[in-house]
Amino acid sequence: MTPGFCITLSKADKPKGRTCVVLLTDSYGRPMRDLRISITDRCNFRCFYCKSAVFSNAKERAEILTFEEILRLARLFVGLGITKIRVTGGEPMVRRDVDRLIAELSRLPGLEDLALTTNGFNLAEKAVLLRANGLNRVTVSLDSLDGARFAAITKSNDFEKVLAGIHEAKRIGLEPVKVNCVLVRGFNEDEVVPFAEFSRQHDIAVRFIEFMPLDEQGQWNREKVVTGAEVLARLRERYEMVPVGKVNDHATSADYAFADAPGRIGLIMPVSVPFCGQCSRVRLTADGKIRTCLFSVIEHDVRTVLRSGADDSAVIEFITETVQKKERGHRINEPDFEPPPRSMSFIGG
Ligand code: 5AD
Repeated sequence: MTPGFCITLSKADKPKGRTCVVLLTDSYGRPMRDLRISITDRCNFRCFYCKSAVFSNAKERAEILTFEEILRLARLFVGLGITKIRVTGGEPMVRRDVDRLIAELSRLPGLEDLALTTNGFNLAEKAVLLRANGLNRVTVSLDSLDGARFAAITKSNDFEKVLAGIHEAKRIGLEPVKVNCVLVRGFNEDEVVPFAEFSRQHDIAVRFIEFMPLDEQGQWNREKVVTGAEVLARLRERYEMVPVGKVNDHATSADYAFADAPGRIGLIMPVSVPFCGQCSRVRLTADGKIRTCLFSVIEHDVRTVLRSGADDSAVIEFITETVQKKERGHRINEPDFEPPPRSMSFIGG
């Protein structure tokens, strides 16, 4: 049997609507369900904790996968049991014709969930088209509800546009609309309650993400991490928070509802409570490298395989062999931890 294929499926692991399935599993028996595709390494924001910003660092166009290459890989991955695709970046919405890509991806038979992570700068204009083209939902990155601070973090003046984008996405049903907020000590840790109020008022899921060592400028240190436990304690000073069950075993967040209001809070705790044991994610970078962990120091060059004229079975073999090399877990908390050489904007969130 080809390594990476698993034919004994538990009911919970069986993708809906398929009868005979081979699954992409890693060497620890974890089935891969979730493919994150970065479609560009460019971003129009310059968030200090990510910073894709330096355009001179961006790859030449010829190095970036074409839509045809992305679609071919997506089709093969979905054939191997991937049920969820998230389109990300850089900022995916700066790539021309992203709506066309969404339309093509949404037609892949077997794909159950198509999501987009965006900074939201043009979501208000594009949400209707994206939805019509088959996008199921969006996650918007937003780290401050204060316009001046937003500008300081992102070096962008699009605060109002981002807010409008979030509301438009909600209005037209790109749901659940999620807002990702990376908390950094000394920067925006005082915004836990304002974000909670935002969630309650607009019935939007807010997810607080622990700051990870993925920033280009190496500003990360443990003191700057605002832990999920700390966020929860702060929320509980003011609200009655009710834990809600995970949507699936691979979910990355611990979710809470408010006892007395709509809205949701998710705590994503990669640093303080690593969730690698259930990891079901594989990443494809804009320049065609497969990454088996956000923190991988090794990348697997599938672009060269594609461009060498490989047929589908050879590409599938490359993918299954790559997934076999998936790391057991990230090593942020190990003494000899080495951050990956590329920042989040290159890797794709
Ligand atoms: N730590 C935590 N989250 C990060 N993101 C980007 N860089 C970091 C980091 N260093 C988040 C973005 C986005 C998501 C894809 O990843 O805010 O919402």
